[in-house]
Amino acid sequence: MPVDIEAKIPNNVDLKDDRRLQRALESWQPKFIRWWEELGPAAFKQNPVFLRTAIDVGRDGWANFDHVSMPDYRWGIFLAEPEPDRKIAFGEHKGDDVWQEVPGEYRSALRRLIVVQGDTEPASVEQQRQLSLTAPSLYDMRNLFQVNVEEGRHLWAMVYLLHRYFGRDGRDEADAMLERHSGDVDNPRILGAFNEETPDWLSFFFFTYFTDRDGKYQLASMRESAFDPLSRTCDFMLKEEAHHMFVGATGIARVVARTIELMQEHDTDDVHPHGGINLDVLQKYLNFHYSVSLDLFGSETSTNAANYYSAGLKGRFHEERRNDDHRLTTLYRNVPDVADGVIGEREVTQLAALNETLRDDYTEDCQKGIDRWNRALAEAGSDFQLRLPHAGFNRDVGTFSGHRISPTGQMIDDATWGSAVDGWLPSDDDKAHVQSLMVGVTEPGRMAGWIAPPSTGINQKPVDYDYVKV
Ligand SMILES: [Fe+2]
Ligand SMILES: [Fe+2]
Repeated sequence: MPVDIEAKIPNNVDLKDDRRLQRALESWQPKFIRWWEELGPAAFKQNPVFLRTAIDVGRDGWANFDHVSMPDYRWGIFLAEPEPDRKIAFGEHKGDDVWQEVPGEYRSALRRLIVVQGDTEPASVEQQRQLSLTAPSLYDMRNLFQVNVEEGRHLWAMVYLLHRYFGRDGRDEADAMLERHSGDVDNPRILGAFNEETPDWLSFFFFTYFTDRDGKYQLASMRESAFDPLSRTCDFMLKEEAHHMFVGATGIARVVARTIELMQEHDTDDVHPHGGINLDVLQKYLNFHYSVSLDLFGSETSTNAANYYSAGLKGRFHEERRNDDHRLTTLYRNVPDVADGVIGEREVTQLAALNETLRDDYTEDCQKGIDRWNRALAEAGSDFQLRLPHAGFNRDVGTFSGHRISPTGQMIDDATWGSAVDGWLPSDDDKAHVQSLMVGVTEPGRMAGWIAPPSTGINQKPVDYDYVKV
């Protein structure tokens, strides 16, 4: 389908041929803009930013790079090209044609899936809204804004589905996306991790590394959906999402590099007095963000997830590449299980364990970046290695919740936890130190003292390019 890039709402869904839908979305648009003005980036939002804007979905070039001021950003609706003759790859309807409309029996379940995903998108923009004030460089500020505008576009993606396929209920849900707010006591965002603050740039990098990666796995399993418009929407969102995780992975790598540099320069492990972030503090931030992101996958066993799968609404990561019956009712696996104060396992059907399977895939992916950071540490002669904590550490959802478990997987009592927790999660002192380093740097090419420069710029521009015109 051709892209209508000049339309009020750029799109490749033939919006101009559906006047009612177009009008409905055009009446949601000012509400979105108002939300952006109030709860989007707190500073520099009028400045020209070197942003990537989605303009097409094709293989050769889907994005345009140019300076735009964010209120003029073209938030559009883009679905990946349809796959001709696509069949349902799993569940009870395996082998049938995919659906172009929502089957009545799955209407509320699909709506729920879309709402939960959609809610995370504006949530992260809200969580990150203060960060532009303390960006460690213009390069980083630009990356923050890139992530923010794309999360805004992801909200548009979900809102389009709600408006187009769910009638009145869908329109109400689209409005509610702008009414819930991250951390709001009365009307919070749906998922826990999206109500946590992102108070500093170290948190931002870990958030984009771990929490945006949860997004990748959720989107990838919805890309498998029998509901083809959802599948195509998620497929395109994944292209943008990759950059968000890149921001996290390279951001942390640059902090590690700078810390190593300071350690060598001053011949010490304690770089705090020299304006750096110690490796053990990085480990604590990692522990926090990984553990709250694990919660996003839900309980180890889940009837909802099983029902979604059997119905064809949400598959596994890379469903079609897997060699099994794609029904999973008679295949088994072990899941963690805490019983009588002991961490063990129990065997359940793979169908019941879908959340755990997705969490495993996610963890494996998380490990890759950690291996890269650790290689940099080893090459620099450091014997410190970053590690993912045990899956039971600091968990609020599933079998581990309500138990005190150390990062190495020991079941401990409250007193032991209380005396050790400052060594495992960012302490008030750690947060205060990190916060003290957060000073905005707005001179092209210059970096704050706690982070190394990136190895390359964006879209072949040099690192000292004026990514944000200040
Ligand atoms: Fe997103
Ligand atoms: Fe993202």
